[in-house]
This record gives sequence, C-alpha cells and structure tokens, in this order.
Amino acid sequence: MVETRCVAVVTGAASGIGLAVARHLAGEGWAVVAADCDEAACVKARDMLDGKIVVADIGTPAGAKAAVDAAVEAFGRIDLLCNNAAVHPLEAIEDHALKSWRETFRVNVDGTMLCSQAAIPHMKRAGGGAIVNIGSISGVVPYARGGAYAASKAAVAMLTRVLALEAGPFGITVNCIAPGAIRHGERPEAEAPPANIPVGRAGTTEDVAHLVSFLASGKAGYVNGSVIVLDGGATAGRVRAGGRKH
Ligand SMILES: NC(=O)c1ccc[n+]([C@@H]2O[C@H](COP(=O)([O-])OP(=O)(O)OC[C@H]3O[C@@H](n4cnc5c(N)ncnc54)[C@H](O)[C@@H]3O)[C@@H](O)[C@H]2O)c1
Repeated sequence: MVETRCVAVVTGAASGIGLAVARHLAGEGWAVVAADCDEAACVKARDMLDGKIVVADIGTPAGAKAAVDAAVEAFGRIDLLCNNAAVHPLEAIEDHALKSWRETFRVNVDGTMLCSQAAIPHMKRAGGGAIVNIGSISGVVPYARGGAYAASKAAVAMLTRVLALEAGPFGITVNCIAPGAIRHGERPEAEAPPANIPVGRAGTTEDVAHLVSFLASGKAGYVNGSVIVLDGGATAGRVRAGGRKH
C-alpha cells in the first residue's frame, strides 16, 4: 500500500497513457479501477491489470458514477481520481463538424467534471484525496486543426484550478499534467525525436505515470491547482539557430 492512500480510479485506462498509469500504480501497490468505454480494449487490457476494469462512458453522469462507484463498492473508498480519458479530432475550425466539437468537450471536459463530481463526496468523507487531470500542452500552445482539443484542454486546466479552490479545504488536491508528445502503442519508437525537445527524446508513458504517482502521494500535499507541463522543455522557450546547447 502507498502511505494511507490506496485506491485509484483511472479513466481511459484500457489503452495508451491511462493503461500505463493504471499498471504503474498497481505496481506501487494501489488497488486500481480502470474505466474505459471501449469494450474490446477493456477485454484486452484485463489481463494486464490486476485490478477491476469497468466499461463506462465517463462523459455521461451514469458512466462517471459507475467508474467511481466501482472503486467504492470494491474497496470502500477512492483516494485518487486520474481523469485521463479524452478524444482528439483533427479538424480546421472553418469546417469543424459540430458533432465532433461537442463530443470533444463532452468527453474531455464534461467527463473530467462529472468524474470529479462523483468522487469528491467520497474523498471528503475520507478526509482527503487527490485528483490528477491529464490535460495537454495543446491547452497552452495549440496546433492548427486541433482547435476542439486545444480549447477542451485549456478548459481542463481552468477546471483544475477551480476544483483546487473548492476541494482544497477538504484535504483534496487537484492538479493537471500537461504532457507534450508522448510515445506509445502504434507510434513508431524508432522515429527521430522532434528537434524542438531540449532533452532530446519524446516523452514516455512512464514519465506521465511517475508524475501522477507523485501528485497522488502525501509528498505532493502542498501542490494544488497547478498545471504542470511535462514536455522535455519543448515549450520552455525558443531554441536558437545553430544547436540546442547554446
Ligand atoms: N499521447 C500524447 O502524445 C498525449 C499528449 C498530451 C496529452 N495527452 C493526453 O493524455 C491522455 C491519454 O492520451 P492517449 O494518447 O493515451 O490517448 P488514447 O486515445 O490512446 O487513449 C484514450 C483512452 O480513452 C478512452 N476513452 C475515450 N472516450 C472515452 C469515454 N467517453 N469514456 C471512457 N473512456 C474513453 C479510449 O477508449 C482510450 O482507451 C488524454 O487525456 C490525452 O489528451 C496525450
């Protein structure tokens, strides 16, 4: 067990970063409930996760409640909620379909809000907890054709700060990780890292998992309402022509 905190819910955890976070936490001794709307991916992920996996659409009140209730029913509490599930369409604003625009906000923003709404009363009753939202560097520095995603991730960052104000007095910390490019799954590992990353490599799912774990630990008890950029320095500033050392 990790200190007195021991039960985590990770959304969007049947694949990618969410799956890696869930596995990392389980490896640290957390009891983990993974929630994801992709039934086939849940079946595949089940073997990789020791804990429970719940098929749920966290962009609906019922789905968000089902994800949190699964932890409370199985383990009696929820100490960490990691709001990781997201969708990311690529469409220019000029031709953006309203349907995909709304779906992006429904999953990325409503989902974060609804899962937090479901988890906070349990955390309050237990005297504390942690919420870690997975935002994106796109919420700070956007890219063309990523308008819905960027705007939704900026909303997640702001929602993080509001939740930190509201839940902080109850011992609940709320923070947001804003990753840059994270390699996983189908993404080719051999591909050269983008030249604009000062540390010289793309991010890994473990980079994200370590930060989630730290933010969920008692060691991060004074970190609240923060949006932490995790991008190897890619957006720290400009790289001068002539090399990345000077
Ligand atoms: N991969 C990157 O480079 C990167 C960079 C910055 C931020 N992020 C963020 O990290 C998080 C994970 O990204 P990823 O690359 O692993 O994405 P991914 O698309 O590989 O995985 C997302 C998971 O969320 C699930 N999901 C989608 N809608 C859902 C819903 N309504 N209910 C429940 N589950 C749902 C999907 O089924 C999928 O398993 C996201 O919040 C993403 O925005 C990723």
